[in-house]
Amino acid sequence: MALNRGCNVVAFVCSAVLVVGVGSGCADHYPRPVRREVVVGLGEFADDSLKSVTVIFRHGDRAPLLEDKTYPNMSMNDFPEGIGQLTKIGKLHMYQKGKLFRRLYHGFISDLYRDREISIKTTNISRTFMSAQMVLTGMYESEYYHKQMDLESVWQPIPISIDSPDRTAICANKCPYYKEFIDKELYDPILKNINSENKNQMDELLSHLSKNYGQPIKVEQIFLLYDSFISKVSKGLQLPEWIKPNYYQVMESVYIQILRRIYGNKKLQKLISGPLLKEISLNMELRSNNSNYNTTRNMYLYAGHDMSLGTIMFFLGNNRIKLPEFGASIHFHLYQDKTMKYIIKVFYYHKWDDEKYEEMPIPICGNPCKLEDFIQLINENFSTEWEKECEKLEI
Ligand SMILES: *[C@@H]1O[C@H](CO)[C@@H](O)[C@H](O)[C@H]1NC(C)=O
Ligand SMILES: *[C@@H]1O[C@H](CO)[C@@H](O)[C@H](O)[C@H]1NC(C)=O
Ligand SMILES: *[C@@H]1O[C@H](CO)[C@@H](O)[C@H](O)[C@H]1NC(C)=O
Ligand SMILES: *[C@@H]1O[C@H](CO)[C@@H](O)[C@H](O)[C@H]1NC(C)=O
Ligand SMILES: *[C@@H]1O[C@H](CO)[C@@H](O)[C@H](O)[C@H]1NC(C)=O
Repeated sequence: MALNRGCNVVAFVCSAVLVVGVGSGCADHYPRPVRREVVVGLGEFADDSLKSVTVIFRHGDRAPLLEDKTYPNMSMNDFPEGIGQLTKIGKLHMYQKGKLFRRLYHGFISDLYRDREISIKTTNISRTFMSAQMVLTGMYESEYYHKQMDLESVWQPIPISIDSPDRTAICANKCPYYKEFIDKELYDPILKNINSENKNQMDELLSHLSKNYGQPIKVEQIFLLYDSFISKVSKGLQLPEWIKPNYYQVMESVYIQILRRIYGNKKLQKLISGPLLKEISLNMELRSNNSNYNTTRNMYLYAGHDMSLGTIMFFLGNNRIKLPEFGASIHFHLYQDKTMKYIIKVFYYHKWDDEKYEEMPIPICGNPCKLEDFIQLINENFSTEWEKECEKLEI
């Protein structure tokens, strides 16, 4: 934290060290110089009134969740990393996301990893774990580690714990309510909507897909198919020529409707993000208590999923977000204002390469959102007994 508060300079230093770089900003005479970005001033958010930061980010670009044999036409050859895994471009994007975090929080977080400043948790899934690794590599340059340790190293070792209270991954397998909702409740309103508005268009799409995939395709399958298109597009791959723009749009609209119904479901919000929101609220509460200040951390990072971000945003009352793209992030900031009161602000980045945040209102809490109101809200809405809740909830 001992940093030169006041100057706000970002220096670009040329270096022959291989860094996954962004463009070239250095001298023209060097062959393919790599721009090395060293943040030396205060981060955009590193303000004295900022007391605690929690960031939940979605993993980077991933491979489709489909197996080859589901749709023989859907080749996984383009995704050597395997089903649902972080792709090469996804890794790079998360590295760049880490650089953004450094630019935002430099000064609030030291160059050298310090255990008492930051905690990193991920869901127990390869793509989120690896995203957390890449984010931290981007956030913590190795040279500070060199200086302090007098060691050659390409990265600073930083612990990542797999005990994130984010239940996205567990809930899908364990909570009966989740399965029942998906099986019995999810599609009816969407189908109704289709039948009343654009049945012909949908019939045409389904028969077109069935013909080209060589098997009957129902509306329920559109989700995974469209999801695989997103993976392909993110890798710069061509979609099949027979996926015309109008078909693509209908599929996208179904995809978004499905996700919004999940994000907006109060019970799923509880099951998926309840324990995480409780931990966030507790960490801020502890931080605000002066006697705990030195034993709590400045920053908590959580690597999660679109469901984590979607259910949290909808819970807060922000249902105007479309869907959290790869590398999207929610930032909870705890501020102490001039009257020494604690207030919470939420900032949102829609995608890994968003440079500009959007400050999100917190309708459920009010404006300003006082810490005490937030704590009360979380305590009233979420029980501590997740396992029981997950078992007993009925449709
Ligand atoms: C994490 O995931 C692995 C592989 O799926 C599993 O074997 C392991 O038990 C999980 N660990 C925890 C703590 O859930
Ligand atoms: C997909 O596979 C089916 C059945 O093998 C075939 O008839 C169809 O032409 C294929 N479509 C494409 C776009 O490859
Ligand atoms: C805050 O500190 C006081 C005094 O040490 C203690 O009584 C109280 O339980 C603490 N609250 C929290 C949330 O830690
Ligand atoms: C917290 O740490 C700072 C710096 O080391 C110290 O000045 C302060 O007294 C500590 N506060 C408490 C409550 O222990
Ligand atoms: C959450 O808490 C608020 C405020 O106490 C309450 O109005 C609302 O009904 C609660 N929502 C749920 C789903 O329990």
